[in-house]
Amino acid sequence: MKILVVGGAGYIGSHMCKFLAAHDHVPVVLDNLVCGHRQAVKWGPFFEGPMEDRGLLRRIFSEHEIACVMHFAAFCYVGESMTAPAKYYRNNVAATLTLLEAMVEAEIQGFIFSSSCATYGEPEKIPIPEDHPLNPINPYGRTKLMVEQILADFRRAYGLESVCLRYFNAAGADPDGELGEDHDPETHLIPLVLQTALGQRPHIDVFGDDYPTKDGTCIRDYIHIQDLAQAHLAALERLLDGKPGGVFNLGNGEGFSVRDVIEVARKATGAPIPEKVTPRRPGDPAVLVGSSEKARQELGWKPRFADLETIIETAWKWHRAHPTGYGD
Ligand SMILES: NC(=O)c1ccc[n+]([C@@H]2O[C@H](COP(=O)([O-])OP(=O)(O)OC[C@H]3O[C@@H](n4cnc5c(N)ncnc54)[C@H](O)[C@@H]3O)[C@@H](O)[C@H]2O)c1
Repeated sequence: MKILVVGGAGYIGSHMCKFLAAHDHVPVVLDNLVCGHRQAVKWGPFFEGPMEDRGLLRRIFSEHEIACVMHFAAFCYVGESMTAPAKYYRNNVAATLTLLEAMVEAEIQGFIFSSSCATYGEPEKIPIPEDHPLNPINPYGRTKLMVEQILADFRRAYGLESVCLRYFNAAGADPDGELGEDHDPETHLIPLVLQTALGQRPHIDVFGDDYPTKDGTCIRDYIHIQDLAQAHLAALERLLDGKPGGVFNLGNGEGFSVRDVIEVARKATGAPIPEKVTPRRPGDPAVLVGSSEKARQELGWKPRFADLETIIETAWKWHRAHPTGYGD
């Protein structure tokens, strides 16, 4: 089957393309390379351009028989979304709406959306289930919730079936070392810790060590990129089987503290990785861990790379071999 992967040159999208190709699908990538990497697109046709380009979408849909669309393209910096919300609403919501309209016009019926745990806001209970109240506390989280709501309306009105996958923290890299995480600027903890191990940063900032957690640092749910890809494949098969879509959390179910991550990275890399405790950042909850029971039950999904050691070892394999990322 041909699957349109929008944002397929990015971190998660590129891993998804490799995974799709390994499972006998053809990923057709649409990416404008604002944050993605040309070198990460290797497994199918590539269209360079923005998803808001209706003409380009029409061309793709006429040249390729697309069975389903996987949508990874978005701006993803929570902090930037607070200072530049227009940029986020335009790209994450308005451009996505154009993509969805083009799909309806081309009568493509399946859509898999990269949503986020940022849709929940401050957790009222841990682990967070899908029916937890949705009160995002920043524009980034609101853009994800808005697209989920648009998708519910498109299902009712146009029969466009969709699966929304609310990821927790995507982490790790392709076990073959061919693909990895290269964001600019980098804000995710594991790559920052590994850049510190490589001597590219003097220390790793620990934002607060006075949280009510076992070691005082924030606890997060890290989910390996291969496990995310596996869940997308399960969602794809569900849609291709004509079953209804839905909303699913994708997390490890287990939380690791910032200090757990630094400690495991010290073991994996053999580097000292100095840390510097700085004040808490506003809006950072002490613990963010999701329940992925629904994905396990209904998608038959089971994370296979759940332990922190494997997550960090695969990421280290990439960072050690590609200290400047894709080098672009
Ligand atoms: N990384 C995480 O931990 C995480 C967690 C939750 C949700 N998500 C979501 O998963 C998705 C993928 O995340 P990622 O870390 O791979 O991000 P990324 O920035 O690496 O990839 C996004 C890709 O989309 C492309 N893109 C952006 N706007 C575009 C547009 N208008 N037209 C065409 N291409 C465009 C970028 O060039 C980039 O290649 C995002 O939607 C993100 O919000 C990520």
